[in-house]
Amino acid sequence: MIRFLIDQDIVELQDARADLTLLQYIREHRKKTGTKEGCAAGDCGACTVVLGELKASSSGQTSLYYRTVNSCITLMSAVHGKQLLLVEHLSEGDQLHPVQQALVDHHGSQCGFCTPGFIMSMFALYHTQSAPNRDDVLHALSGNLCRCTGYRPIIDATLAVCEGPVDDKFSRLKSTTITQLQSITVEKPGMANILMPTTREALRKAIAEHKGAQLVAGSTDLSLQFTQQLKNAGTLISLSQVDTLTYCTKNEHSLLIGAATPLNDVTPLLLECFPQLAELITRFASLPIRHQATMGGNVANASPIGDLPPLLLALEATLHIDNGETVRKIPISEFFVAYRQTTLADNEWIAAIELPLQKPLQRLAAYKISKRFEDDISAVCAVFNLTLENGKVTSLLTGFGGVAATPVQCISLQDALIGKKFASRECLNMGKQLLFDAFSPIDDVRASAQYRKTVLANLWHRFWLENQSTSHIETRVVQHA
Ligand code: FES
Ligand code: FES
Repeated sequence: MIRFLIDQDIVELQDARADLTLLQYIREHRKKTGTKEGCAAGDCGACTVVLGELKASSSGQTSLYYRTVNSCITLMSAVHGKQLLLVEHLSEGDQLHPVQQALVDHHGSQCGFCTPGFIMSMFALYHTQSAPNRDDVLHALSGNLCRCTGYRPIIDATLAVCEGPVDDKFSRLKSTTITQLQSITVEKPGMANILMPTTREALRKAIAEHKGAQLVAGSTDLSLQFTQQLKNAGTLISLSQVDTLTYCTKNEHSLLIGAATPLNDVTPLLLECFPQLAELITRFASLPIRHQATMGGNVANASPIGDLPPLLLALEATLHIDNGETVRKIPISEFFVAYRQTTLADNEWIAAIELPLQKPLQRLAAYKISKRFEDDISAVCAVFNLTLENGKVTSLLTGFGGVAATPVQCISLQDALIGKKFASRECLNMGKQLLFDAFSPIDDVRASAQYRKTVLANLWHRFWLENQSTSHIETRVVQHA
């Protein structure tokens, strides 16, 4: 059984298929058809809903946090213990919610198919950030597509409504909602073919007792098997409730990320340590996807076009792999063995990802090439992590996606440039040629093989140009020292 709030009503779901999506539940079981289905793949935002959940604030107080999710690729297990808010819940009688009224006032809807999703993204921003600027609004609306209105009126409406104080029934009912959510306890959450262990030991047992069951965290990738390929789920084991898998901490030498922590929760500390990753993380996927997707999931599914594995390869990440009894630590470069195959044994899971912190002389850059700015899959992803001393390359680490059957490093490039003067034409040309020759990518809908090879070489050119001034400055600093 799972238990959650719909608006202010506590509901229970005794049993449901593991592959029942939140959107199917909303529209087919609850008959709430305000939430729309567009793509059923997390790409358009028509199905956006809001989940409210409890969080401990920095002062130790419990607060209520609203986040958007794409209900089309969210499994029902993800709703357990949370408050589900739909577009139907926003108005009070005949009175529109302030975000709805703002959209009307700014003429932000024509055909209206996208509108419920926009409204929910606006609602979440209204509750999470006061007086956002235009970039904040674009960020909040990053997962919502509109074909006919054009975005300016929608952006204007969002800016206008978020300028004022938050005043709606949800803010007035906040403490009641917190009490209701705190009262939701289920000794063993789960449903027929989805297990939801809450401890490491329970996870070990669940895996031991259900051979062949698939592990799932954010479900942003796995759900596509159900909504796009129309497969039925076998038994699933959800990692989202396991208490040892959701955290993000930093010590003197490294950043340690619990494998089932949603990417958006990891982002503040990740960007504090690696500010150069801001664009890659923003472009990894839309905000609703990043509210669900996890770093562990992006690594474990071993897709050759995932955006985080190239980054983790270039940062020399260590994976903490657990079987419930012992934890083994391996460099991520030893994890991917073939297309979608890893060294993870049947009884193991990724518990954490450890990233060594940047050293002062390191230069890091991550590039994503895709057709859509956010919420798209990379044609090519390239990450370079360079260390220079006196202008010479002392270390180069790389990671690439979209160019081979697995995420890969380019060892020939890493080795060849050691000792070379980075600012030299030799370093530029050698890097471009080595990268052009290194891989045999495939032609597919995203890009041709030739395009991928060319782009890869050009990204090295870009990295070389972008780091010219810093390499000169650094040379001077080091020489003066
Ligand atoms: Fe398009 Fe869900 S229906 S994101
Ligand atoms: Fe038609 Fe946005 S109003 S898709």
